[in-house]
Amino acid sequence: MKKIQISPSILSADFSQLGFEIKRLEDAGADMIHVDVMDGHFVPNLTIGPPVIKALRKHTNLIFDVHLMISPVHKYIKDFANAGSDIITIHPEATDNLKESINQIKNLGKKVGVSLNPDTEISVIEKELENIDLILVMSVYPGFGGQKFIPDVIKKIELLKKIKDDKNYKYDIEVDGGINFSNSKDVINAGANILVSGTTIFKENNGNIKKNIETLKEV
Ligand code: DX5
Ligand code: ZN
Repeated sequence: MKKIQISPSILSADFSQLGFEIKRLEDAGADMIHVDVMDGHFVPNLTIGPPVIKALRKHTNLIFDVHLMISPVHKYIKDFANAGSDIITIHPEATDNLKESINQIKNLGKKVGVSLNPDTEISVIEKELENIDLILVMSVYPGFGGQKFIPDVIKKIELLKKIKDDKNYKYDIEVDGGINFSNSKDVINAGANILVSGTTIFKENNGNIKKNIETLKEV
């Protein structure tokens, strides 16, 4: 079984001191940093862009797991790659040509992720599964932190794990949205090996990030 990794979402961090927050996450044992990019068009919220990622890059060597909730996404992939993203994850609905966008990310030397909203079937991306490094299974509808986990996605995680094992694909299975101490074990047992969390990591146990990361990893 692959090592369980935690990718804290900085959407729940203190935006007035993101550099310090990133350091805090690294010191607390985060495996990577989940950066939620929202454009107010693909999702009804607006967060940060390439200049902020560039500014944060010097504060840590941790992997920047960049979740692009923007469309049309192909116009901005290069800027996010040049700003210091390590994994660039896109939504199939945000591009006219998923295969082309995947190749664009790979040609920039970055790992490529594809994200499935709760109501997006695996069939939408089935043809690309062998070419991607990560599948980001949304367990909430994208746009905001602090939402409630949608349990139906467990079946999707199990199916993605079965396809991966049957076809010997290499993709990581990352789950994002409403992850907490009461559903993390179900998500891991279903086949996920990377958990994204914002609210639970920053708010639980009086904000003891180290304890929250360790608790989410428990199986
Ligand atoms: C939602 C984002 C998630 C979210 C996770 O659109 O993609 O990464 O910030 O936050 P919590 O853990 O609070 O649901
Ligand atoms: Zn996210």
